[in-house]
Amino acid sequence: MILKTLGFVVFFALAAVALGTADPELETCRHQCRVQMAFDRQQREACLDKCERYIQEKEGRQEERGGGSSGRREEEGRGGEDDNPYVFQPRHFRTAHRSQQGRFSVLPRFTERSNQFEGIENFRFGILEVESKTFVAPNHLDADLIGLVAEGEGTLDIIQKNKKKSYDIRVGSIVFIPAGATSYLVNTDNNNKLVIIKLIQTISTPGRFEFFFGTGRNSFLRAFKSSILEAAYDESKETIQRVLRGRDDSPFIQVSDEQLKSLRKESDTIWPFKTDKSSSSKPVDIFKHKSVSNNYGQLFEVDNDDFKELGDIEVAFANITRGGMLGPLFNTRATKLAFVVDGKGWAQMACPQVSSQTERSEEGAIPTYETVNAQLRPGTLFVIPPGNPYVSIASQDDNLQIVCFDINADNNERVALAGKNNLYSNMDDVAKEVSFGVSSKLVDKVFENDDDLELFSKGPEWQQSEDRADQ
Ligand SMILES: *[C@@H]1O[C@H](CO)[C@@H](O)[C@H](O)[C@H]1NC(C)=O
Repeated sequence: MILKTLGFVVFFALAAVALGTADPELETCRHQCRVQMAFDRQQREACLDKCERYIQEKEGRQEERGGGSSGRREEEGRGGEDDNPYVFQPRHFRTAHRSQQGRFSVLPRFTERSNQFEGIENFRFGILEVESKTFVAPNHLDADLIGLVAEGEGTLDIIQKNKKKSYDIRVGSIVFIPAGATSYLVNTDNNNKLVIIKLIQTISTPGRFEFFFGTGRNSFLRAFKSSILEAAYDESKETIQRVLRGRDDSPFIQVSDEQLKSLRKESDTIWPFKTDKSSSSKPVDIFKHKSVSNNYGQLFEVDNDDFKELGDIEVAFANITRGGMLGPLFNTRATKLAFVVDGKGWAQMACPQVSSQTERSEEGAIPTYETVNAQLRPGTLFVIPPGNPYVSIASQDDNLQIVCFDINADNNERVALAGKNNLYSNMDDVAKEVSFGVSSKLVDKVFENDDDLELFSKGPEWQQSEDRADQ
């Protein structure tokens, strides 16, 4: 087995050298995965994943080299993105379905990036983009799905417990689609893309999920022998085949203005009397749930109090005013997946784990804290584990808009390290004096409780980004 694996690696390395362009190389790699007789299904999938990752990393390297972004690289200083597993850029995503009309991309399993993510191994992060006047074919997942509409508008239909419910969705709508429930949707806008940010919680194999499409050429029905279908539907083979071959196999289907009109009209939410009162999974508008707001930013949050299907996930939207900053703070229990939907900025996290990755130090020993830097731009995902202090800063030019999925959010507390109710302002004077080793007056000068600044405050000048408190 070891020899076989080794042989495979050697072959792969050779193939990588021999083939100049990315696509043939990817094909060769995939082919190698498929023909390894010794692989079971899981190993084969892992192998295929590895191919994708290799290619994407390679493309990423080329992008960085060609992109002339060396200035930015320097700005990141030590603990740059390449050294830490917490930052994902668009190149880390894989495209699961793609056509002219739409795209679904998904991040690889978090545990593939680092074993530090075992705590969130049941979660996957994905993005659905649907062009205007496009229908997404009915499908179900073997996983629960929470979505937040980040752009555009549409109509979402969910079939569950023998009932179909239809919902209007727009920017800020949070939707929940349970495992096995069939859903389809249409982008009803004439011009704009519909973009839905998705958190997928797997329920069978940790971190693995599958789509099941019931219609069209790639319908799961076509896996059955035609005699079985004839018996099940009491129809001729020809008729059944005609029905199952009516369209090609892309799940993204362009619709006519006529079709769009009637798909849109069906939404139950326009007609309250049609809405089933027991329907608790009705989308919730996150913008109706503002929790913090001042000159430097606004925070919107929805948890299971407002939308019971969220379970122990909280969905948040932070709108950091240009030049403003969120934090520093830490979360007591939640792992935060922070995804940038608009604007530019920069995040920093104090992290005891980076150095222990290679040389695992004694757990519970007094660690040193390294700086993890993340350059934030649309499409960046930043993972913040519980307990780790962090800060997010908007550029001087644009508001920074971040969608967050907080995993394990039940009983989570946000602990501010500056501004209103900050941690230090809650300590006794003597504890401050003893633990800082200076007078409590001096400590208060820095950490005074400022009621006007809850969570958000004025950010630093960008040029100072290299400074650290101890320099
Ligand atoms: C974000 O805040 C700005 C004000 O700084 C506001 O104009 C804008 O509409 C907000 N965006 C969202 C999506 O709430």
